[in-house]
Amino acid sequence: MIIAIDGPAAAGKGTIALKLAKHYGLNHLDTGLLYRAIGRLMTEQGLDVDNAAEAGAVARKLKAKDLNHPDLRGREAGELASRVAVHPEVRAALVDFQRDFARTPPGAVLDGRDIGTAICPEADIKIFVTASPEVRARRRTDELNAKGRDVPYERILAEILERDERDSHRSAAPLRQADDAVRLDTTALDADAAFAAAIEIVDAGHE
Ligand code: DC
Repeated sequence: MIIAIDGPAAAGKGTIALKLAKHYGLNHLDTGLLYRAIGRLMTEQGLDVDNAAEAGAVARKLKAKDLNHPDLRGREAGELASRVAVHPEVRAALVDFQRDFARTPPGAVLDGRDIGTAICPEADIKIFVTASPEVRARRRTDELNAKGRDVPYERILAEILERDERDSHRSAAPLRQADDAVRLDTTALDADAAFAAAIEIVDAGHE
């Protein structure tokens, strides 16, 4: 079974994907890490993330071990990832890895922006996880505050809106709900309720 989870930044798709993988005994790939690793490697090598040819070259050399880079989860890596992700050369270089991962038994949950539309259009289940930008920014701000990082809500909201804009309006595989995806709006749901709703979607789609 292949489950595709797409949606904008901080909608809760990563947590849902991880829990679904555990629940159904599937592998899990957070595809954002691929783009984050490329952004990080480029800045370390003094390369320009907005240069398509340079970004493509780094993407073609990406190794699985690069996903263990210690500094991929933060906001800066997310911003770099969103910028390298606009280049068609980068996206093309990552297709085979993601498809091979998805097709490896017993199957997988992949989360990202283009899994249901471009990487695994044949996925058994597609869920588009979303939430209002204000709620996503509030959750991100609370997460950072809990880690002792005092970042203003307004700044996080501005970053989220900028990322939504870039991810949704690029020409190469933009963030978009697949026609056959089920929309899961987590605006009014906590993590447990969102996971329960996701299980219902998978079970209903797999009867
Ligand atoms: O899911 P994330 O926040 O880790 O993703 C970081 C960026 O990577 C996101 O803003 C756009 C890009 N991305 C993408 O273009 N396609 C994917 N499948 C996953 C991420």
